[in-house]
Amino acid sequence: MPPISKTQWISDELASLRESGLFNTIRTLASPQGAWLKVDGRDVLNFCSNNYLGLANHPRLVEAARQALGTHGVGPAAVRSIAGTMDLHRELERRLAAFKGVEAAISFQSGFNANLGTLPALVGKEDVIYSDELNHASIIDGARLSGATVVRYAHADAEDLRQKIEANQGFRRSLIVTDGVFSMDGDIAPLPALYEVARHFDYLLMVDDAHGEGVLGRGGRGIVDHFQLHGKVDVEIGTLSKAFGVVGGVAAGRGEIVEWLRQRARPFLFSSAMTVPDVAACLAAIDVLEESDELVRRLWQNADAFKERMRAMAFDTGKSTTPITPVMLGEAPLAQAFSRELFAQGVFAMAIGYPTVPKGKARIRVMISAAHSSEDLERGLAAFEAVGKKLKVI
Ligand SMILES: Cc1ncc(COP(=O)(O)O)c(C=O)c1O
Repeated sequence: MPPISKTQWISDELASLRESGLFNTIRTLASPQGAWLKVDGRDVLNFCSNNYLGLANHPRLVEAARQALGTHGVGPAAVRSIAGTMDLHRELERRLAAFKGVEAAISFQSGFNANLGTLPALVGKEDVIYSDELNHASIIDGARLSGATVVRYAHADAEDLRQKIEANQGFRRSLIVTDGVFSMDGDIAPLPALYEVARHFDYLLMVDDAHGEGVLGRGGRGIVDHFQLHGKVDVEIGTLSKAFGVVGGVAAGRGEIVEWLRQRARPFLFSSAMTVPDVAACLAAIDVLEESDELVRRLWQNADAFKERMRAMAFDTGKSTTPITPVMLGEAPLAQAFSRELFAQGVFAMAIGYPTVPKGKARIRVMISAAHSSEDLERGLAAFEAVGKKLKVI
């Protein structure tokens, strides 16, 4: 028998992904983010970025980045705790804390890193994390890295959380963690009920507001503001790569916790800081958000209008109550075919399948933004109708 190559298993796995319709085909953009994109050489309507407010190519953010390049250069050239903390990083943290109405904030290179840094700093192997079963991968990985016991509670179910806590006693420290807005379904965590449980047991409460910042609350101040829970959530994780339009992450909340993260969060201590143009652009994003809530209002108007029309056409948009609009299709090959047909009609909307969502729950995840005009929405709706009929979904 010929020897089997040591990477044969990878070829086999890739072939099986292709056969089952779960192979991730990555398209390439040759334009800035916006309502329209140039993708693989074609101009297409963008229905899949997290650029909620259209800030990713906003002139004020671009100009702020350009100016900072002149005054501070490109890169920080060090981790934050050695020589990588610039005045701009400090300013961003101060402004983010003020924007979110918390005592302090610490920035990370990404939202993913914010979770990887925060969870292991707060709990360890003698401790327990109660985690919503649909939490984001970065929470799952941060929880694993911490070494704590992880107890999953039923999605968005504060009563199940309470029961799981009662059945799992005897740990040193306990932390409850949830996504704020669930990124694949667009539903919102029942934060007031989760807070009541956290308060009752005196446990730490952490929320990942990646899809709430710039979207929920007054002027996009996030989920804590949306539910008026100021001072009650111990740590909020955020990302600067979605509504803020740039890249970066943040942990915000009690001053003491943030101070502790500066001492112990490993991506902060052992990986270089956010770059200069990123930080400057994020500062400009806060300026834009603080000056007016117009973009946030337009985002919601566009998203509500789109969702209503999709439902009227009998598409299943799941349980979304936010601008994240899943179009539920079931099996992955159908979702992939739907996405390809949409692309042929000039609409870029990605199919999402396992492992990002459970098997049999494949979907097209539509992301509407403030940057879309009403003509854009009409164009997108017409494409959904045509493809939905062709593939016998509606
Ligand atoms: C809930 C949640 N947390 C964290 C992240 C990671 O954010 P970033 O892209 O800044 O690493 C995401 C992005 O997909 C997310 O949806």
